[in-house]
Amino acid sequence: MLIKKSKDSLAILTDVVLPGETNALNNLFGGELLARMDRAGSISAQRHSRNIVVTASVNHVVFRKVIPVGSVVTIEAKVSRAFNSSMEVYVDVWIEDRKTGDLTKVNEGIYTFVAVDRLGSPVKVSAIKPETDLETERFEGALRRKQLSLLLSGRMEAKDATELKALFEE
Ligand SMILES: CC(C)(COP(=O)(O)OP(=O)(O)OC[C@H]1O[C@@H](n2cnc3c(N)ncnc32)[C@H](O)[C@@H]1OP(=O)(O)O)[C@@H](O)C(=O)NCCC(=O)NCCS
Repeated sequence: MLIKKSKDSLAILTDVVLPGETNALNNLFGGELLARMDRAGSISAQRHSRNIVVTASVNHVVFRKVIPVGSVVTIEAKVSRAFNSSMEVYVDVWIEDRKTGDLTKVNEGIYTFVAVDRLGSPVKVSAIKPETDLETERFEGALRRKQLSLLLSGRMEAKDATELKALFEE
């Protein structure tokens, strides 16, 4: 199967935060942001696999800074590593300064998507070739995060989590 570049899976969503999407402090509601991140991530996974994809797991999310109503939010999603049928997708969230246009990173999430056929059965996806330093760093940590996710969801036994164990043995 063709090896694809991480950058070719890039999906960028830019949208504004409206009053109906906020919490009592007039900042973007967390669940609304997660949904937007999921949407961007699924487009990225679809671009890489050229297939139907489903969200298998949300592995990690950090809400670093609040996103006030009226903010212009840009979500960038890119496949960091592809395994057999699953793909790890990194989702970075930025807000834009109205006057200067400067971007501030406010949030980050790591999702797992699985490519499936029309019956929902997993199908094989192409491997990823990282190019930049950041892509390489994310690629190299992906197997460890996959094992952690499988362990937490009861899909892997601790004795089989070789990459995780290596982390503690260093
Ligand atoms: C995700 C799903 C397709 C997995 O199907 P399955 O029959 O269990 O298939 P498998 O066990 O072969 O897993 C398929 C891949 O997903 C990976 N996977 C499954 N659960 C995972 C998890 N919690 N974390 C990380 N990877 C996971 C497996 O490791 C495997 O990866 P690989 O093929 O790259 O090695 C299936 O559970 C599903 O359809 N879930 C519902 C998805 C959905 O509806 N999402 C939207 C939420 S509303």
